[in-house]
Amino acid sequence: MASRPSISQSQLFLKKPHVIFSPKPPIFATPISKPTKSLNLFVLKSKKMAVVTAAVGPAAAAAEEKSKKRYPGEAKGFVEEMRFVAMKLHTKDQSKEGEKEAQEKPLPKWEPTIDGYLKFLVDSKLVYDTLEKIVDKADFPEYAEFRNTGLERAESLAKDLEWFKEQGHSIPEPSSPGLSYAAYVEELSKKDPQAFICHFYNTYFAHSAGGRMIGKKVSKKFMLKFYKVEHMVQMPKGYRVSVAVAQTVLNGKELEFYKWDGDLSQLLQNVRDKLNIVAENWTREEKNHCLEETEKSFKFSGEILRLILS
Ligand code: HEM
Repeated sequence: MASRPSISQSQLFLKKPHVIFSPKPPIFATPISKPTKSLNLFVLKSKKMAVVTAAVGPAAAAAEEKSKKRYPGEAKGFVEEMRFVAMKLHTKDQSKEGEKEAQEKPLPKWEPTIDGYLKFLVDSKLVYDTLEKIVDKADFPEYAEFRNTGLERAESLAKDLEWFKEQGHSIPEPSSPGLSYAAYVEELSKKDPQAFICHFYNTYFAHSAGGRMIGKKVSKKFMLKFYKVEHMVQMPKGYRVSVAVAQTVLNGKELEFYKWDGDLSQLLQNVRDKLNIVAENWTREEKNHCLEETEKSFKFSGEILRLILS
């Protein structure tokens, strides 16, 4: 059973709160319209904040029921809403829950290259470095809840790249997909916590699901495929023959990127619990704003994934 993480209520408020959900109207609030049975809307005298009071009675129950129907997954918590939106953005061949048609132009044949895979690892590391620095710095207090979740990947990627280096591979500099995504989340994290949390969720959870599948596929391919030209041999009559040596790139090694300390499903559940608690303080508009960011998360991550085939 997942242990419920403790998050102090004061930590949950944004540095710059603009909308607060409150069960009772504060005494300095005045109604902007005649209160109705279903919902009373109050605006604080300080123009910055609006306070929505909880409705009571059957009208409230009906409104709540209606909103549950409107947002799939809502009854289970906000993570389920995020998951629902994400799963729909998968193609049918990526996941049976996917609804997106595969791209019109056919994807390149699944032929990963070691150079492409290294680019993918380097760019992924840049993104995880950035996400992990953001939650450490915690410009918004709720980010701090996502420090040391056990899902962190920057350190494990650093070890993997070091290993590749020891095997004689040269490690590329980060390329445009990783640089663009890192710059985007960095900027977003300073001003838009709901959108940032969407990227945080999708990046870590995608890696634990589809990311692991991709890792397995890549390592299977590399076990069989890679040949390195060792040297050329000069033959009589001017023929030159290249001597290729089978190079089992991964040679049975499981990369640290795909290993977690502890039980992964428990680590994921702990983070789901925290995400749900953080999102309890968001208005419906803020939740929708977070959900709408999912598409961007797919776009940026998709570009990085594509590096594997470059
Ligand atoms: C080739 C690309 C991808 C493949 C093959 C893939 C495949 C999958 C699969 C099989 C699942 C598990 C579904 C289940 O729970 O039964 C999954 C979950 C998920 N994927 Fe992907 N995916 C891919 C790309 C992405 C991308 C680019 C993102 C977003 C950046 C993403 C976000 C997610 C999320 C959030 C989940 C839910 C994880 C959870 O509930 O624990 N996926 N994916």
